[in-house]
Parts: sequence; C-alpha cells; structure tokens
Amino acid sequence: MSFVESMFSLNGAAAVITGGAGGLPRSLAVAFAKAGARVCLWGRGTNHPIEDAVVSVKAESGSPDVFGVTVDTADSLACERAYDATVEHWGMQPSILLNGVGGNRGKSSFVDVDEAVFEEVLKLNLLSGLVTPTRVFARRWIEHGVKGAVINMTSMTSYKALSGVWAYDAAKAGVLNLTEALAKELAPHHIRVNAIAPGFFVGNQNRSLLYRDDGELTERGKAIIARTPFGRFGEHSELWGAALFLASDRASGFVTGVSIPVDGGFLADNI
Ligand SMILES: NC(=O)c1ccc[n+]([C@@H]2O[C@H](COP(=O)([O-])OP(=O)(O)OC[C@H]3O[C@@H](n4cnc5c(N)ncnc54)[C@H](O)[C@@H]3O)[C@@H](O)[C@H]2O)c1
Repeated sequence: MSFVESMFSLNGAAAVITGGAGGLPRSLAVAFAKAGARVCLWGRGTNHPIEDAVVSVKAESGSPDVFGVTVDTADSLACERAYDATVEHWGMQPSILLNGVGGNRGKSSFVDVDEAVFEEVLKLNLLSGLVTPTRVFARRWIEHGVKGAVINMTSMTSYKALSGVWAYDAAKAGVLNLTEALAKELAPHHIRVNAIAPGFFVGNQNRSLLYRDDGELTERGKAIIARTPFGRFGEHSELWGAALFLASDRASGFVTGVSIPVDGGFLADNI
C-alpha cells in the first residue's frame, strides 16, 4: 500500500450516508466506495429512489459493496431499525456517518415567512439531518467502543447569513454549533464530529434559485458567481477530498469540531 493509500484508504471501514440518494450525498457515497469503504445509503425513497442511487453508486465507483435502506431519518425508532438492518447486512458496525439529509425550501422576505415552512426546514436540517440519526449512532458506538467519525453538512450560511432563506440560515448556523458541541461531548469516546461546508453546488434544493427555466442564471446565481473568487459553481467531485480526509482516521484522527469550507473562495471574498 502506498503512503497516500495508507492515509486515505477506507478499506475495512463501513459508512452510512443519510439522504444517500440526494445530489451531494450520493456523490460523496461514490467517493467513499471508491476509497474502499462498504457503503450503505439511507434515504426516504420519496423524491429520489434509493434503489436507483445504489445502482448508480455501484456503477460510478466500481464497487459492489453498496446497498440501501429506506428510512425516514426524522424518526428515531426507524433509525434504530435501520441501524440494526445495516449491521445485520454487513455483520459489523459502521464507523462513518455522513449526515447528508438537509436542504432549503424557497425564499421570501422576512415579513412573508411561512412559519410552517420555517419549522419544516429547521426540523429537516437539525433533527432529520443531524440530531436524530447521530444520537442513534453515538449511543451504539459508545456501547460497542467504535471510534466513529460523523461528518455533517454545514453551508456558507453557517458563517454568513444568506438573504431570504431565514430558516436555512438559522438551521445551518445550528449545524455548525452542534458540530462543535458534539465534538467536545463525544471526544472522550474517541468519536470525531466534523463538517463540510460546501459553497454553491447546483443541486435539487437550490437549482431554481440559481437558474431560470430558460437555463440562464438568476440574479441570485449571478451574484453568487460574482462573489466566488473562482467565478463558478463547484463540481460535486470537488467535495471528495475533504470528505475522505475527515472520514479517514489516519488522515484526521486528531481533527474534531471543524467545518471545512469547499467554496471556491466564497468566504474569503472581499472588495
Ligand atoms: N447543494 C448545495 O450547493 C449545498 C450547499 C451547502 C450545503 N448543502 C447541504 O448538503 C446536503 C445535501 O444537499 P443536496 O443539495 O445534495 O440536497 P438533496 O435534496 O439533493 O439531498 C438530500 C436527500 O435527503 C433526502 N431526505 C430528506 N429528508 C429525509 C428524511 N427525513 N429521511 C431520509 N432522507 C431524507 C431527500 O429525499 C434527498 O434525497 C444538505 O444538508 C444541504 O443543505 C448543499
């Protein structure tokens, strides 16, 4: 095994990716599978069928060791059952949890905020996207002495509020806060908790905010590109390096409580 492989290979590891049929999580599943991990995609199977995602991750990664579990990560009991099903399939505990569930629902002025949608977005990102599955994994890992790695999805808005997406702003600031707080809480159990903060990657949750129906950029899309020093949106595969670094205990075994921006310089922009 080369030095680089010894640092970043995930051979022998088993990773669960929630929201695994979604845009970025599915791509990160490909990276983990390519790096040698067994991969399990957890997804609700509503808007993106989990079986299709399994087929595509297998095809893109060349790994046969990919399967899917249909689960609503908002539901604690369902997460417990999904954890059991995952362990039963592999005959081993997973040691990587990538919390890929999350997203935004439209945008509005503050006075037009729909409180039901606001609450839905908070729950999506904070509970389904972090607290509920992580609680299940942390309890099992502590029980079985697993040195686990949790990777959350933060955002540019974890650092600097984006206009018109009030609940998403609050939720992603919360994801960053919980990433740090959980890192401290779980460190005595050798469980690391970190995050990736993608800049702007075109996905299901934000396509209509970035592009008009005729394929031209929206005003918001243009503003983002103008403030991204690299002058473009990110490619999904540009998240792979950060994800492999955080997942590999050899590469980042002393790293916990951090969020790595992968943003083409968006947070570094100035005038
Ligand atoms: N796309 C971007 O540019 C971007 C930027 C910053 C952060 N993020 C974050 O990355 C994550 C993934 O984003 P994406 O754009 O790939 O989103 P996506 O909508 O394509 O993927 C999320 C997946 O989660 C699933 N899901 C939602 N609720 C669920 C639940 N309760 N149980 C199980 N599955 C559920 C959805 O069906 C979907 O397949 C989100 O947390 C998002 O906020 C994305």
